[in-house]
Order: sequence, then structure tokens, then C-alpha cells
Amino acid sequence: EMSPEEIAFQERIDRNEKIEPKEWMPEGYRKTLIRQIGQHAHSEIVGQLPEGNWITRAPTLERKQILLAKVQDEAGHGLYLYCAAETLGVSRDELLERLHSGDMKYSSIFNYPTLTWADMGAVGWLVDGAAIMNQVPLQRTSYGPYSRAMIRICKEESFHQRQGYAIMMKMANGTPAQKKMAQDALNRLWYPSLMMFGPSDKDSVHSAQSMAWKIKMNTNDELRQKFVDQTVPQAEYLGLTVPDPDLKWNEEKGGYDFTEPDWDEFYQVLKGNGPCNKERLGARVKAWEDGAWYREAMTAHAKKKAARRSA
Ligand code: 3HC
Repeated sequence: EMSPEEIAFQERIDRNEKIEPKEWMPEGYRKTLIRQIGQHAHSEIVGQLPEGNWITRAPTLERKQILLAKVQDEAGHGLYLYCAAETLGVSRDELLERLHSGDMKYSSIFNYPTLTWADMGAVGWLVDGAAIMNQVPLQRTSYGPYSRAMIRICKEESFHQRQGYAIMMKMANGTPAQKKMAQDALNRLWYPSLMMFGPSDKDSVHSAQSMAWKIKMNTNDELRQKFVDQTVPQAEYLGLTVPDPDLKWNEEKGGYDFTEPDWDEFYQVLKGNGPCNKERLGARVKAWEDGAWYREAMTAHAKKKAARRSA
């Protein structure tokens, strides 16, 4: 039932050819990419908020510089990804409008609060760690502009993950009160981090088609398992306990058995009922509205300049 064009397209994907902006592609491929790249861009932009919250309260000048650089990187990633989405024929204004109206999603993780400085460590270690686990394979994704964006973004994400782990090392090896803060941050952010990979494979709507098109390179559960296997030894090195009493090494599968996140909570967060959904979206809408005068001024200025040129 595939058309000759679709068959030829799939053959290109199977040969690992990159698909470029002006080339023919099935409408579903274009739509799925706009959804995924757009959501990814929104995640980077909304993702600035939980950490931006701590820039003015960083404990030292050096920590403040590092955090500031990281949050700026995220702005850059967002803009980079919006550009990649724009090559598919959607405008940035439309993407932002769909974010602000709640029609498009951003990662569930950013609807959780960052309560202490240790959360800056745990966010870098776990959230950026999970982001890299998902994004390294996406460097090989079939759509050229997305794949190239991922290469640069992954380099910066590695720095983010390392800076987070460095904070965790400091806290976990600090005073008993600091170690307690580190453990508390791990307790609160562990399951939300596991949720970043999306629903379990049996409930993932898009995985099969997205993997056939190489928009996704792995299933949600594959990446979640890899993340757990990588992160548990890192927690052990910190002397911290992963908040899962059933976590156990499984020799046969060569990975850990672990407790799945609470999927009801996950779907509640997706529906807008997480602890910070309203605050996060509210902050983005306010930023957009507060910038209206500036966009208007820029447009008026451009018009005036064009009129002068043609006069
Ligand atoms: N948060 C919010 N929504 C999620 C989600 C999550 N953690 N996981 C899944 N969903 C949504 C999907 O978008 C989809 O809803 P939709 O049809 O309305 O779009 C629905 O749940 C079903 O899930 P599927 O598994 O079928 O969806 P996907 O095939 O799109 O897989 C994904 C989800 C693995 C997140 C995939 O979209 C992906 O790999 N995206 C690119 C990576 C990305 O967006 N990362 C953001 C992480 S944060 C970040 O990078 C910022 C950094 O600075 C920390």
C-alpha cells in the first residue's frame, strides 16, 4: 500500500542516507519531525527555568559562572532546534503559539521544582545524563538538520552532565547536612528522570513508525535501561542510595532490574497537572507577552528602513 515515492524514500532511509530540507518526504515523516524537534526545542527553552531559579543563589562566583554558561547553552540549543524545525516549513511563531496554547508538549521533567542547591547537581547529573542517553543516538537520525544539531548539542550536554556530577561529588563528600541534601535531590529526581524516556514500549504510540523512519534510533525502554545501568554505579561512587528497594543486578540480562516510574503520575504531568506546569508555562507566556513591544518596534523599524530604501 506504499506509493512508489514512499518505497523509494524508505529505501533511502534503510541505506542510511540523510534526508535534506527540500527533498520529497512523506507528510507523516514531516509531521513527526516537527512534533519531536519542536518539543525538543521547547524542552530546552522551558528547561532554563528550573536552573535559572538558582543563578542568583549559586554558592560561589565560580559556580555561578558555570551555571550561567549552562543555562545560556540551553537557550542556544533551543534556537538551534527551532531553526531545524523551520527547515520543515513551520514558522517559529507557530511553534511558540502551539507551546503557549498547550497544544505542544515539552519534557515532563521540567514540571518538577528545584528546591535546593543539590538539585542543580542532580539535574545536571540525572536530567542531562538522561538527555544525552537519548540524544547521542539521535546524532545518526535520518533528517540532516536534526542530526547535525545533535552533534553540537551532545558536546555541550556532556559538559552539563559533568558539572552536575561535580556538584554531587562536592555535596556527597561534604558535611552530613550537605550529603543529606544530595540524597534528597536524588530521591526526588530519580523517577522523574526515568520518565524522560517516555512511556513503556507497549504504550509508546510513535516508536514503531519513528524507528522505521530512523527519527528515533532506540525504543524508550532500551534507553531507560541503559540509563539505569550507567547511573547506578555513579550513585554508588557518590555513596548515595537510589530510591528503589527492588533495584537489583540481573546477571542473565546484564543489566539492573528496577521499579518502573508511576505512569499515572507521568500522564498527569503530561495533562498539565504536575507540580510546576502552570508556573512554567505561565513564565513562558509572560516572557512572550512582555516582549511584544520589542517585536513591534523591530517590525516598525524594518518597515521604515525598507520604505526609505525604496523612496
Ligand atoms: N515528557 C513529555 N511528553 C512525553 C514524554 C516526556 N518525557 N515522553 C513521551 N511524551 C509524549 C510524546 O510526545 C507523545 O505525545 P504526543 O503524541 O502528544 O507528542 C506521547 O507522550 C507518547 O509517547 P511516545 O513514546 O509515543 O513518543 P515519542 O516517540 O515522541 O518518544 C521521546 C518520546 C523519547 C521523548 C522522543 O520524542 C524523543 O526522543 N525526543 C527527542 C529528545 C527530547 O525531546 N528531549 C528532551 C529532553 S530535555 C532536554 O533535552 C533539555 C536538556 O537541556 C536537559
